Amino acid sequence: MILLANSEAWPGFSKSVELLKAGRHGIDAMVAGISEVEREVKVRSVGFGGWPNMLGRMEFDAGVMDGTTREVGSVGAVPDTIPVAALAHEVMKRLPHVMLTGDGARRFATEIGFGVDETLYEDSKRVWWQRLEKELSPEELAKFPDIALAPLSRTITDPERVRDTTVFLSKDSLGGLNVVTSTSGWAWKYPGRLGDSPIPGAGFYADSRFGAAACTHTGEMTMRCGTARTIVLAMRLGHSLEQAIALAIDELRELKDGFLAGVVIHALDAKGNHKVVSLNCEEQIKYWFWDTDLPEPEHRFAEPFTS
Ligand code: GLY
Repeated sequence: MILLANSEAWPGFSKSVELLKAGRHGIDAMVAGISEVEREVKVRSVGFGGWPNMLGRMEFDAGVMDGTTREVGSVGAVPDTIPVAALAHEVMKRLPHVMLTGDGARRFATEIGFGVDETLYEDSKRVWWQRLEKELSPEELAKFPDIALAPLSRTITDPERVRDTTVFLSKDSLGGLNVVTSTSGWAWKYPGRLGDSPIPGAGFYADSRFGAAACTHTGEMTMRCGTARTIVLAMRLGHSLEQAIALAIDELRELKDGFLAGVVIHALDAKGNHKVVSLNCEEQIKYWFWDTDLPEPEHRFAEPFTS
């Protein structure tokens, strides 16, 4: 058994390990762990601790994929709901659809008994308003939110608050490879913006016969390249894990226009190898890893991409 997750996974990683050890399906184990991350206010990119959109409203994205059946559930731009990875799992289990967004996702949450959560953390509200005060003129602030938001969407981008996410990937006791993701998305995003975390093929993909991949940071790049699917398809076509990731990084580096910033790729192959590589990230990226040979989870360094 294996569990791989990004650094923000710390509040729930051990819980997922315990559930994998108890023989639970990988998605159940990882959704339980991610639910802890979503509740932890110290994780400033996921769940209650995350950042709101430009209007100061929280909108969450999440996805789950079963690599054995290749079933997917995902939710995007969901209001008033903290446990969105669990909601994405319910979409997979209960509906003929793969993805629900916005009010429809919230309606479904209510129908199946999810509570209506308080989602805007006081400190996030304070930082959001400070940011608006810095970017808007006094006249615009007086009219806010009845102003054009599009011009703001570039200037308000905040390098200190990257487009982070939590991603969990596992190989469970049945040998299945599965992925779960959750995020509040890009701080001060345009309302309705979806990142890559709910988009199968971009932010996550799993096929138990070949491998699994999930991305953090700039969804605007991985959505353009279909990064997670590229990696798994490359392994299907005979590439090693290293070669598959190198191909995905080449594709990301071919992008010359549009919004370009950091991306971190987390990937497993079906033999149990794993690799985490960061591209264009100034900070040193770490991740969590556990397998059945390790007594405790380890917090390891990702490999920065070097050309
Ligand atoms: N990767 C997270 C996002 O782009 O929202």
